[in-house]
Amino acid sequence: MWTIKEIPDLTGKIALVTGANTGIGFETAKALYKAGASVTLAVRNEVKGLAAKEQIEKEGGKGILNVAVLDLASLRQVEKFATQFQKEQAQLDILVNNAGVMIPPPSLTEEGFELQFGVNFLGHFALTGHLFPLLKKSTNARVVTLSSGAAIRAAGIDFDNLRLEKPYDAWREYATSKLADLLFTFELHRKLKENNNTILSVAAHPGVTKTDLQRNISEAELQQLLAEFKEVMEPWQGALPTLFAATDTAVISGTFYGPDGKHEYTGYPAPSKHHTAAMADQQLAADLWSYAEKATGIYYSF
Ligand SMILES: NC(=O)c1ccc[n+]([C@@H]2O[C@H](COP(=O)([O-])OP(=O)(O)OC[C@H]3O[C@@H](n4cnc5c(N)ncnc54)[C@H](OP(=O)(O)O)[C@@H]3O)[C@@H](O)[C@H]2O)c1
Repeated sequence: MWTIKEIPDLTGKIALVTGANTGIGFETAKALYKAGASVTLAVRNEVKGLAAKEQIEKEGGKGILNVAVLDLASLRQVEKFATQFQKEQAQLDILVNNAGVMIPPPSLTEEGFELQFGVNFLGHFALTGHLFPLLKKSTNARVVTLSSGAAIRAAGIDFDNLRLEKPYDAWREYATSKLADLLFTFELHRKLKENNNTILSVAAHPGVTKTDLQRNISEAELQQLLAEFKEVMEPWQGALPTLFAATDTAVISGTFYGPDGKHEYTGYPAPSKHHTAAMADQQLAADLWSYAEKATGIYYSF
């Protein structure tokens, strides 16, 4: 049973966690800080970010905490954030692409992408690309991207519906975005390997964890879902697959980690058994990568 006690000393490591003001991102940032890392809490709301920093510091730790504003629904803002981050940091050891939004009302990012696809995947594709030179400066960098068990519900990526072209189906669009996160992780892993790069690219999912992610679900639907899941985890436990992926020496690049319980709803970190044809589709992953390059204008400097 892997817990935060297994996290090695991270003194001197530079980490960045998106969506770190609450939920899994908050617990992830807190544990990395406790282990000694210098952690930037990348948040879209500075007030919430400063409150999170205060809370983490109150609980104690030996690292360093910074707060920086990052709105993943704007590629312009992502670039602005990354430019500043690169001025302030000499390297990046742990990048956690955690921020996410689930079943919001139909909405678009600043550049006109469906919000879940834009925030959960495209913003993180752009962020990772902008920060790639800093990741290359670390001797053992890791990129951890949050996917979800919901990814099994996406049969593929509908490239003709990434800008809300078709009638909105909130859950379908969420599943698409989380499949995209997984395909991104695997394709990044393959590209890193081809280029003999030592950066690890891994994915994690927190099973079923009670967080603010459920904020757009009606009370009736939430009760129905909770009855279906039976058990849910608290954020500290939901963050364990992420923390394992971000820090453990046994982690293998190109792997998806999640909780080890029934249906992967709850439990402790282990390689995920979720598997669908879409997840294994290398052509789809390559097509998504090309799409993202054109959509963001970012071409990774392998
Ligand atoms: N909870 C689960 O059961 C579950 C299951 C599977 C996967 N996941 C994944 O786990 C990750 C963390 O989710 P969580 O459960 O911790 O949810 P959460 O408590 O709602 O946290 C999500 C975080 O993302 C931030 N965020 C949302 N939109 C953003 C934007 N446009 N730009 C920057 N940050 C933004 C939120 O900021 P604000 O607080 O300002 O809104 C918040 O900090 C997500 O990727 C989610 O898909 C969660």
